[in-house]
Amino acid sequence: MVTVTDLDGRRAAAVAEEIVATGGKAEAMALDAGDDAAVLRAIDRVAARGRLDILHSHAGIQVPGRLTDVSPEGMDASWRLNVRAHFIAARAAMPHMQRQRSGSIIITASNSGVQHDRGMIAYGTTKHAVIAMTRQIAVDYAADNIRCNALCPGFVDTLFNHGFERQMGGRDALEAYVARSIPMGRWATVEEIAESIVYLASDQSSFMTGHALVIDGGECL
Ligand SMILES: NC(=O)c1ccc[n+]([C@@H]2O[C@H](COP(=O)([O-])OP(=O)(O)OC[C@H]3O[C@@H](n4cnc5c(N)ncnc54)[C@H](O)[C@@H]3O)[C@@H](O)[C@H]2O)c1
Repeated sequence: MVTVTDLDGRRAAAVAEEIVATGGKAEAMALDAGDDAAVLRAIDRVAARGRLDILHSHAGIQVPGRLTDVSPEGMDASWRLNVRAHFIAARAAMPHMQRQRSGSIIITASNSGVQHDRGMIAYGTTKHAVIAMTRQIAVDYAADNIRCNALCPGFVDTLFNHGFERQMGGRDALEAYVARSIPMGRWATVEEIAESIVYLASDQSSFMTGHALVIDGGECL
């Protein structure tokens, strides 16, 4: 059973419907990843059914700008969702996974966590930090047979890039940037990212922990 959560309950429901339509089992839940109590309740409720095998903690925020452009509030918001929310979710999942002596935690970081983006101090700093946290969780819980890996996508054409599109000066400028700066010359498809999530979630990656899996068409090389 997959429990899909999103701040926007309709987006969660659409994903759950897709899973059910292809023969899987899924439910949807509106959930703010920044609401500690709600995250704890949701994880405990899922685990109370019997098992919690996989936690994929994905939400993030991109506040653009250099040091002098980003307000302290923008930095706090970035830290809150890009690092702290993943800490809260993993912390809530861990006792359940320890009890069953297995589990896979996947934290969405970014290839911005393994390179330095120009003009993205809040995003780059928090994505580096969440990879450090992923490795720390991995080393601390490896003996419990609980793995923790970071997913590090490059450009994927989702709503997430609307802010960067504005920063670049519009869609044409963004497309030109992607064509110029990604060695493979294109965006990742959501399917290409999904394959890596399945890999990290499944036993195919059973001896992999503390890894930052970069899927970016060579951008960070
Ligand atoms: N799209 C990219 O190019 C790209 C590249 C690297 C990393 N990422 C990372 O992927 C993650 C999301 O990107 P995406 O491309 O899937 O974006 P998306 O816009 O397609 O989806 C993000 C989802 O998160 C939900 N959300 C936002 N705030 C939330 C909150 N507080 N609680 C719960 N849900 C919330 C939104 O409603 C949305 O459905 C982020 O962590 C981002 O840093 C994206």
